[in-house]
Amino acid sequence: MSKLKERVVRHSPSRGEGSPDIWGIYEPDTGSIQYICADPETKKAALIDVVWNFDPQHYRFSTESMDQVLDLVRENGLTVEWVLDTHPHADHVMASAHLRERTGAPNAIGRKVHDIAELWREIYHMPEAFDPDADFDHLFAEGEKFRIGNLEARVMLSPGHTLGSITYVCGDAAFTHDTLMQPDVGTSRADFPGGNTEQLWDSIQDILALPPQTRLFVGHDYGTDGRDEPMWEATVAEHKAGNRHVKDGTNREDWIRRRNERDDTLPLPDRILAALQINLRGGRLPEAESDGRHYLKLPVDRF
Ligand SMILES: [Fe+2]
Repeated sequence: MSKLKERVVRHSPSRGEGSPDIWGIYEPDTGSIQYICADPETKKAALIDVVWNFDPQHYRFSTESMDQVLDLVRENGLTVEWVLDTHPHADHVMASAHLRERTGAPNAIGRKVHDIAELWREIYHMPEAFDPDADFDHLFAEGEKFRIGNLEARVMLSPGHTLGSITYVCGDAAFTHDTLMQPDVGTSRADFPGGNTEQLWDSIQDILALPPQTRLFVGHDYGTDGRDEPMWEATVAEHKAGNRHVKDGTNREDWIRRRNERDDTLPLPDRILAALQINLRGGRLPEAESDGRHYLKLPVDRF
């Protein structure tokens, strides 16, 4: 998917009291950015949107991304306190269940994962499938506050890309996942089941209403025609001044029309039908069958 092939790691240092240390770890197969958000004082950390590598050509999994993230955690003397996801991803499989087991930290996602599960039970015709209350230790409500070490974090509901996407705000940082892309790219798509372009606009406006120096960390980057290096951090002020889709002065209706036109041209991510049925189990495969193997279910002629 992405032309960027390097596993780039970048540190965005704490800006002082109340501000987290952040590491972004670029996953080149899916163009995903995984994050470590740490309190510099207590060395407690949250892991956000970490990938369980899945090769769609061979239907094989590997743990290189989560291994790399956990190596960084160790090298920096951190303790994992939370395993977080912003939404059940369509383009990659999440490492949540594995990380919960490997770190002992609770895993969490937004409470509206229940509504997303409802939608996909129908699509997969698996009326009994998915039990987010069992597969996640915690489901965040809109506005809920929690701590990463001594840092205060809170949850903003950011529907649009999915109906239950959330943004984690921690001090002067916010993890905006698939709402905004980097300023030179623009915004994310809103055409998956449960997506909504109007809601995505409103969610983006809420994010851009955060203080101007807030560091926004996006969920994906694929580079541009003129940029061969992945980028994932920009401030609210930088987005307002120069985001090519939603900078200050953008007309809501124009953006909605352009977004919908663009989304009509985009193919489904190659991993979507495998990813959702695993991600809605918190990153766990369906139970093994009597031969000891795991199987996935695919709806035909549905999309
Ligand atoms: Fe996504």
